[in-house]
Amino acid sequence: MAYSDKVLEHFQNPRNVGTLDKSKPTVGTGLVGAPECGDVMRLQIEVDPATSTIVDAKFKTFGCGSAIASSSLATEWLKGKTIDQALTIDNMTIVEELALPPVKIHCSVLAEDAIRGAIADYQQKNGIEVAVAEKAH
Ligand code: FES
Ligand code: FES
Repeated sequence: MAYSDKVLEHFQNPRNVGTLDKSKPTVGTGLVGAPECGDVMRLQIEVDPATSTIVDAKFKTFGCGSAIASSSLATEWLKGKTIDQALTIDNMTIVEELALPPVKIHCSVLAEDAIRGAIADYQQKNGIEVAVAEKAH
């Protein structure tokens, strides 16, 4: 399988690898696994509650190059976005940016699910009403 230049670039220089302090109320964690291949992705956000803006994002992905690139790209896109803006990131935007082939689409779905999971966790921790419908892939 040939990876695109953008996938290789993120795979070789992943942005924002790491861990945020889960115990902080301002941190939300999304942990998802892909049934297709068993890969696992953890994505975390730190939110400024006053502005609902994501001030930091980190990930750890045990998975293929496309999953690592998808989560690296996702953390780049998340920083500086409001929660509402972050919820508009969907996996097809990632597919297009990274030029993922059809067999690698589920890797980008993992990133979208991890983003939504992190946001939902932050909202739950802070008693914020979650008004987001589950998206079926
Ligand atoms: Fe091999 Fe995802 S299928 S790492
Ligand atoms: Fe399964 Fe990429 S996440 S092959």
